[in-house]
Amino acid sequence: MKKRVAILISGGGSNMVALARSMDAGHPAEAVLVLSNNPDAGGLAKAADMGIQTSMLDHRPFKGNRAAFESELHAALLAANPDIICLAGFMRILTPEFIAKWEGKMLNIHPSILPLFTGLHTHQRALDAGMAVHGCTVHRVTAELDGGPILGQAVIPVEGGDTADDLAVRLLPMEHRLYPAVLRKFADNDDTKVVLFS
Ligand code: GAR
Repeated sequence: MKKRVAILISGGGSNMVALARSMDAGHPAEAVLVLSNNPDAGGLAKAADMGIQTSMLDHRPFKGNRAAFESELHAALLAANPDIICLAGFMRILTPEFIAKWEGKMLNIHPSILPLFTGLHTHQRALDAGMAVHGCTVHRVTAELDGGPILGQAVIPVEGGDTADDLAVRLLPMEHRLYPAVLRKFADNDDTKVVLFS
């Protein structure tokens, strides 16, 4: 039986597309749901084009009531019955209470070499810190923001004159290699780390 994968997005969904494409016939997992908190997320149409069930749960009507938003999110996920949840550019902070319900099953990709640069603006912060390398990390999601056990990392060089946008553009293809590689191992219960260099 293939493992069921739900992918949560907020934007263009390029990591979602990379994950979904990787789950071919011989893969131990299949994409069963792509859910966005943002009605304008370009990834929703891309998922629908790939024949994946989509769902949209706008967080804005829940302003000030995160528990109510997460309750709906939990219900949507339960309906899809996922074995694995991949956060792929999902830009909502989840509460420890919600994470506890899915802990051990939830992965995230973060655009930095964790534990450096948790949170936002990672590319600019890597430049400001004078880093010679930058990268991305896939980790298990725990209650600590961007702090769960690391499952894989990809590294790129920082070049003279790089801007934050340059780093984002050069890093994204590495994200698209790393996340599917980690997902495949995770679905196979293989906990060896994935390491990629550009
Ligand atoms: C990716 O760069 C991902 O690493 C980042 O958002 C982008 C989503 O792009 N995630 C975070 O910053 C999470 N804190 P995509 O929608 O094209 O996959």
